[in-house]
Amino acid sequence: MVDVVIGTFFGDEGKGKIIDFLSQNAKVSVRCTGGNNAGHTINVNGKKFAFHLIPSGILNKGTKAIIGNGVVVNPKVLIEELENLKANNIDISNFYISDKAQVIMPYHVAMDELQEDIRENKIGTTKRGIGPSYCDKIDRSGIRIEDLYSKNFESLVRENVKSKNVIFKNYGYKTFNSEEIIKEYKEYAEYLKSYVTDTVSMLHESIEKKEKILCEGAQATLLDIDLGSYPYVTSSNPTIGGICSGSGIGAKYLGEVYGVLKAYSSRVGEGPYITEQNNEIGDTIRELGHEYGTTTKRPRRCGWLDLVALKYSCMVNGLTGLAVNHVDTIGKLDKIKLCVAYNHNGDINMKYSTNAEYIANCSPVYEEFEGNFGDISKIKRREDLPENAKKYLNRIEELVGVPIKFIGTGADREDMIVVE
Ligand code: IMP
Repeated sequence: MVDVVIGTFFGDEGKGKIIDFLSQNAKVSVRCTGGNNAGHTINVNGKKFAFHLIPSGILNKGTKAIIGNGVVVNPKVLIEELENLKANNIDISNFYISDKAQVIMPYHVAMDELQEDIRENKIGTTKRGIGPSYCDKIDRSGIRIEDLYSKNFESLVRENVKSKNVIFKNYGYKTFNSEEIIKEYKEYAEYLKSYVTDTVSMLHESIEKKEKILCEGAQATLLDIDLGSYPYVTSSNPTIGGICSGSGIGAKYLGEVYGVLKAYSSRVGEGPYITEQNNEIGDTIRELGHEYGTTTKRPRRCGWLDLVALKYSCMVNGLTGLAVNHVDTIGKLDKIKLCVAYNHNGDINMKYSTNAEYIANCSPVYEEFEGNFGDISKIKRREDLPENAKKYLNRIEELVGVPIKFIGTGADREDMIVVE
């Protein structure tokens, strides 16, 4: 009843496209983790919609779109997104936000900037206040959406501003005025009031009614705070555990767990990336795949697909199917490389490690494939793909042991093979 879409690498795998397809049959779509560090663009009838917070299932008339309790919400960004949808005649009456989601405050954004500035080993965050907001949540000083309507709201803001200002002052940063924040956030609260609800109960009502639910993962496995390449990660659990805790949906309700990847790989921000091609090949992939951030516009680091990391993702998420995007893009190259093992000081294995030093001592073991797939955008059956593409995809499946269920063949919504 509940299907899940998860990124298998460092984000930007093209989850939006699969989500867009699956949500056509979903009665409910839900975001469970992260905040406006995420971003995907969906093309519908020639119009581009950029989503950072709202589940893109909202584009389907009648589908409920829910921001779950595990999300950190910048209300200003959320309101802008809602207004943009309204301006494009998208019905937002089916939008809901959890009363338990955390609120990103202006001091979180500033703290993210300050921390990145003073860090010797930079993470390369999106500077959207994600980490500091999750910090306050774990520290139990965070402000939840429901607090915006509570009599304690003003004192919560004052308390937080007081302690944060000490740090800002210490580093010569601009300090905050709590009364200005209170005024601004009360206005946001008023705007959002009608959308706030107990989404956990709501989701369970849907489960009882046997309504199809789609959990839209954000970020990705290797950016997971626990299971990713710490410290070069985001501050939430974009893996399967975060889907459950960020929505209130228990594991027994889960059905398909789809892992999304590109036929190559990319990463934004710092951190180990063993198959990175910091050379002409990487530049070519970046241009062919338009690999620039939706949220920050940063050029993405690009490289070959890493099956050691993919296998790890399959394992920790319990993936039931794969969606491979950009098969057309990689097929534009003459030769393609696939990382099938790591060589760790002479020991060749498929053991992934999140330890940066271990990874630094590994080198990728590649197999080479023929490219030149030609225009595959209109192909609708896997068996009709050119032999070179089939060989490449078969090898991925063979080495990670999870079936490929979706194959991205082009940029448009319809350019996809759904494997029977
Ligand atoms: P933060 O989530 O802004 O704290 O950033 C932490 C790390 O996660 C940085 O390397 C970001 O570039 C990366 N990151 C966060 N969100 C995304 C995403 O949606 N796609 C790709 N990378 C992301």
